[in-house]
Amino acid sequence: MPALREALDSAGYTYARVADLLGETAHTALSRNETVPGLRRTRGGSPLETLTRLFLLQTPVTVSEAEQALPGLVDRLCNEGLLEQSIGEVAARMDIRPYATDDEDLWVVSDLTPGLDGTPNRVGADHVLGISSAATSLAQLTLRHPVGRALDLGTGCGVQALHLARHSDQVVATDINKRALWMTELNARLNGIRPGHIDVRDGSFFEPVRGETFDLIATNPPFVISPATDERLVYRDSGLPGDRVVEDIVRAAPALLNEGGWCQILANWVIPAGGDWQERLSGWIADCDAWVVQREVIDPAGYVELWLKDAGVQGTADYVRRYDTWLEWFERQGIAGVGFGWINLRRTDSTPTLRLEEWPYDVEQPIAPAIDAWGDTVDDLRGLTDAVLLSAHPVLRADVQQETFGAPGAEDPATVVLRQQRGLRRARQADTVEAAFVGACDGELSVQQVLTAIASLLEQEPAALVAERLPVVRELLADGFLEL
Ligand SMILES: C[S@@+](CC[C@H](N)C(=O)[O-])C[C@H]1O[C@@H](n2cnc3c(N)ncnc32)[C@H](O)[C@@H]1O
Repeated sequence: MPALREALDSAGYTYARVADLLGETAHTALSRNETVPGLRRTRGGSPLETLTRLFLLQTPVTVSEAEQALPGLVDRLCNEGLLEQSIGEVAARMDIRPYATDDEDLWVVSDLTPGLDGTPNRVGADHVLGISSAATSLAQLTLRHPVGRALDLGTGCGVQALHLARHSDQVVATDINKRALWMTELNARLNGIRPGHIDVRDGSFFEPVRGETFDLIATNPPFVISPATDERLVYRDSGLPGDRVVEDIVRAAPALLNEGGWCQILANWVIPAGGDWQERLSGWIADCDAWVVQREVIDPAGYVELWLKDAGVQGTADYVRRYDTWLEWFERQGIAGVGFGWINLRRTDSTPTLRLEEWPYDVEQPIAPAIDAWGDTVDDLRGLTDAVLLSAHPVLRADVQQETFGAPGAEDPATVVLRQQRGLRRARQADTVEAAFVGACDGELSVQQVLTAIASLLEQEPAALVAERLPVVRELLADGFLEL
């Protein structure tokens, strides 16, 4: 692995250099699984072009090109199962992808990307996913403060574990797929992780970590909600009914977390017909503050199509039957739709704060700092009495902007909207009092002083205005427009 790392490094096979080589059009085409624009950009025979053709565009290269890009390594990589050689040509058997964190170039080995250029999308039952958009979402959601022990549950190729290793004293990475565990070990070595720093363990869900606790759990579990069939793809199907896998993880989290520890889950959940998803999920949560954000809702038909396509079933003789069976099962289960989003749990001994909301809008990425700030706000607001709040000196968050709408030339705007430019990018409509209040929150004056001054300007009774507006001040704090 060190020799492979050296070869990749000296060829300049990094995320930035490959993006540059491909250019925007070919890079975007590749994200749609189309290789032709990329092949047209990589005909020069340099080691960087060879590695890009071999491992990303998955096209064979000549033996001499391969030898030049991977000096002295071709035979060894064939023996390891990463390459295969035929007469005069070398092809990749695994995907090796450059990946970048904020300050580091990494490489991630996974199974080859299926379905390039419209070829059949079928994969084996033990397929190990590469860096999917779900993996990236979880990486951007995961808190990055230094911790003692972290757990990557269902590690796959180990991408979350590689991230966690940068800020955790020890990482435990679990999976039931032996090929995934092998790839995680390989990726740890390829990326120079010290031996033992990522402790790779074989076993189902929490079984390999029974009795242990963690400061941070990051998991992108096999969350696809489907009828049990014998065709289980381990990277996405848990084998448990409905959204049980997510429920089990949420219910197990408190026992696995140290006080103040976080469990962050990327998940799908059932939206029951005639029911309330928030109520359902709230029932799973105990002993943790929780911030659950539903980012997207997919109707049953759209959901079935998405995952049948993912399994490469579309266009096969079996498609209609499987589509029908899945929809029928949804109907019988009373599933009206599927929610996709983030579950953030923080172990607490205090009375937990639960916030479950829909936020389908664009957010700043990485979103982790906003999750961290939410935790701080929960601490600030916990047990905050009205008297203490009135004497507090809140500050308007620096990124909040005011938008005004109304007829051109009108003296006063018809609508004022406060909009955050960062984090979740929340927006809320504000009336004159609220806009005046947040505008005056520069940390100099207390809540009581600002509200009293506004009451006197509007010739209103201060006590009545305070009583009316204090809940709004709490909302502004909880939503991050104001900070204490
Ligand atoms: C969606 S993939 C996530 C992979 C990787 N962590 C990521 O973020 O891309 C889910 C992973 O869970 C693993 N898995 C499936 N069933 C499991 C189980 N019962 N216990 C532990 N891991 C399991 C799969 O093998 C797969 O690697």
